[in-house]
Amino acid sequence: MKSVVDILNDRISAAMVRVTGRQDCAAIVRSATDPRFGDYQANGVMALAKQIKTNPRKLAEEVVAQLDLSDICEPPEVAGPGFINLRLRPEYVARELLRITSDKDRLGMEKGSEPQTIVVDFSSPNVAKQMHVGHLRSTIIGDCIWRLLEFQGHTVVRQNHIGDWGTQFGMLIRYMYQGAKVSHMHGATTVFSVVDLSDMEEFYREAKRLFDADPQFAEESRRYVVKLQSGDRTALDDWRLICDTSLSECQTIYDRLGVQLTRDDVRGESFYNDKLPTVVADLKKAGLATESNGAVCVFPPGFKTKEGEPLPFIIQKSDGAYLYATTDLAALRYRVNVLQAGRIVYVTDARQIQHFQMLFKVAEMAGWNQRDGKAVGLVHVTFGSVLGEDGRPLKTRSGENVKLKDLLDEAVERARAVVQEKNPDLPPEQKAKIAEAVGVGAVKYADYSNNRTSDYVFSYDKMLAMDGNTAPYMQYAYARVKSIERKAESRGVSIQDDLRDLQNLDLSEPTELDLGKHLVRYAEAIESAAADYRPNYLTSYLYELAQKFSAFYTECPVLDAPPDKRPTRLLLCDLTARTIKHGLSQLLGIQVVEQM
Ligand code: ARG
Repeated sequence: MKSVVDILNDRISAAMVRVTGRQDCAAIVRSATDPRFGDYQANGVMALAKQIKTNPRKLAEEVVAQLDLSDICEPPEVAGPGFINLRLRPEYVARELLRITSDKDRLGMEKGSEPQTIVVDFSSPNVAKQMHVGHLRSTIIGDCIWRLLEFQGHTVVRQNHIGDWGTQFGMLIRYMYQGAKVSHMHGATTVFSVVDLSDMEEFYREAKRLFDADPQFAEESRRYVVKLQSGDRTALDDWRLICDTSLSECQTIYDRLGVQLTRDDVRGESFYNDKLPTVVADLKKAGLATESNGAVCVFPPGFKTKEGEPLPFIIQKSDGAYLYATTDLAALRYRVNVLQAGRIVYVTDARQIQHFQMLFKVAEMAGWNQRDGKAVGLVHVTFGSVLGEDGRPLKTRSGENVKLKDLLDEAVERARAVVQEKNPDLPPEQKAKIAEAVGVGAVKYADYSNNRTSDYVFSYDKMLAMDGNTAPYMQYAYARVKSIERKAESRGVSIQDDLRDLQNLDLSEPTELDLGKHLVRYAEAIESAAADYRPNYLTSYLYELAQKFSAFYTECPVLDAPPDKRPTRLLLCDLTARTIKHGLSQLLGIQVVEQM
């Protein structure tokens, strides 16, 4: 996928090579810091001049003399200590717009030339525990990342690394028999209890309460753990029932969020259960794992405790139990060797930074990040917390974690009011549909539009505001462009006819050119969002697009434009709508509505 920036980078770097004879030249083309000086600037000459000890301005002039960008840009200008300023030519913008517009599916963006197999590990809630707001972030950020990578042409494998194994299942299974009408017969298939499994959170909380309060319950729970670990059929059936129930609750949320995860993507901790002894044995054999206070540990260099002692990555406890770390090592090997990953991307909150740094280091020490002599890329994509209006982690009024379902329900409820106000005469069914799209979209968009590494304050009022960088604003912008098109049709103007034989565009109005340039830069936004795993680059782009469209639409009549002007303007409308729709629905998984 070559964006304008890529082309400029290639050409300017090549000119730098020609002038200096050095191979390691990077043009470093960025968006112009000040639009008065152009659209882009190349910053690379300064560093190069320093390296070869020459005057940067002079070098920049020599590079410009070697450069032919006349098909894309106005003549480049050298500025300041050695920047090269670049301004796109209207003819280039027009040509690009025509090219993009003729590509129905991909808006003129080719797939990348170096496709990889990329595993994205995201969502990954813990079975039967609360799926909390942190999992909302992992779920939707992860979903956006795989959509971006997939669009770039990579083969993306989703992995939902759910926490579905561990001692908590003993008490959950024991709890299933609480009040059961049928007594449990060993060896029989699962005995359904009267316990309501439909609300897993409640179920877990109750089991935990009993575990802490009732010693007999606790003792029986421990026995179930042993049964489960020794592969007892009935215990396993019960465990599976718990997992299934919990997962179907998750699936409801995924579907509602427009997240593409399915049951096929689930490869939870339990999957690696039989691969854990080998992990420990192999690390011991390689001389990397040692015993320390009865536990088996790896001490990756560079990690220290607060006291300055080497920090252990514990892979087996003294009682023989394996840990989160062990499972992650097994999962990593599986992803590298079986799934054939060229890159693995893990999406979790920032509290797990150290875990992943140590995991990656240990994998490297053991050579497990290598396949066919090549290092597999290991990436930890982190995010901050969702805060309440009081600046503390988001909780309900009674201090409990907020259930995702309740959170979405409330957003949709409030969106209903927005729709009601905007469009009271729509049929109720359509109103409900729009409210769902706006409410769920608002929650997602608010999350995406924040820099993922910072915390953000969750505010229904802000995310549902009709102005500002919000889902309803974007959805409305889309609906507005669509309404222009509907109006055109009602006046007998066919956009298709207007655009069919269009050979040339007239971008003589500044707001036309400005909007056109922005439309041409969509590929750039996608690329940078994918490169840094940052959905907010995409939301910023879309927000700017909506604003530029507004400026254009205020200045330039479309349907009442002179006949020679109308096709260009209709094209700008059409491409704006298609770009917003593509960004929202294809890449962010947020529904657009034709009317709002
Ligand atoms: N289940 C974990 C949690 O809720 C997240 C798992 C992330 N993925 C991984 N491979 N460790 O914190």
